[in-house]
Amino acid sequence: MRKQIVAGNWKMNNDYVDSEILVSKLLGQYKHSNTEVIIAPPFTNLLASINALKGSSIKVAAQNMHFAESGAYTGEVSAAMLKSIGVETVILGHSERRFYFNESDDLLAKKVDTALAHDMRVIFCFGEELKDRKSGNQNSVVESQIKKALFHLPEAAWSQIVLAYEPVWAIGTGETATPDQAQDMHAFIRKTLANAYAQSLADSVSILYGGSVKSSNAEEIFSKTDVDGGLIGGAALDAEHFTAIVNAF
Ligand code: PGA
Repeated sequence: MRKQIVAGNWKMNNDYVDSEILVSKLLGQYKHSNTEVIIAPPFTNLLASINALKGSSIKVAAQNMHFAESGAYTGEVSAAMLKSIGVETVILGHSERRFYFNESDDLLAKKVDTALAHDMRVIFCFGEELKDRKSGNQNSVVESQIKKALFHLPEAAWSQIVLAYEPVWAIGTGETATPDQAQDMHAFIRKTLANAYAQSLADSVSILYGGSVKSSNAEEIFSKTDVDGGLIGGAALDAEHFTAIVNAF
């Protein structure tokens, strides 16, 4: 059985106080859920969120990290620093990191390796742009992104990888991939994994969908066979909406 996961990516939102308020609203909401709930606050709110969520089933992830162990990388945060405050999961490869910070597939491969070397779980994001979808190249773009960043990994490493398919044209735009478009891509990703590794491995990896998931469309998207959850941006900033999305499974 694959793990069902709903992760909230707060991006660069919520100061310390806003974060405390949102976490307190989420506390105690998901006790009976089979779905793993993760929040990814900004770096400045990670430790406080972890402390506030002690004893709760909600996990805390970072939105990014550097690939180097330590050193002269002003402004960056390492895997060891994250681990030292109890962060076990990191989001890597988000399209905003690729676009605004020029993160390439090669760089992401290094970040993935570092995260795994520190025994961190990776939520690895990828997805095509609108021009790729319009020209019908979405599958080859996605295949290339996951191959370049992840297919050097040994089979055993995949127990620490969660995939998040996020078509760039659907992120923060209000435009969602249809449930069938999501299912088609997720099935393609699983087939690609099966071809590169083994069917059993492909069947064990959770593949999340991200891009304008809301409480109103989550249930239909999550009902698709190969969709194992969601990576939620805007709607994760509102406790009520986020809870409704988690409960949509
Ligand atoms: P969105 O963002 O839900 O606001 O579209 C999703 C994401 O960027 O992970």
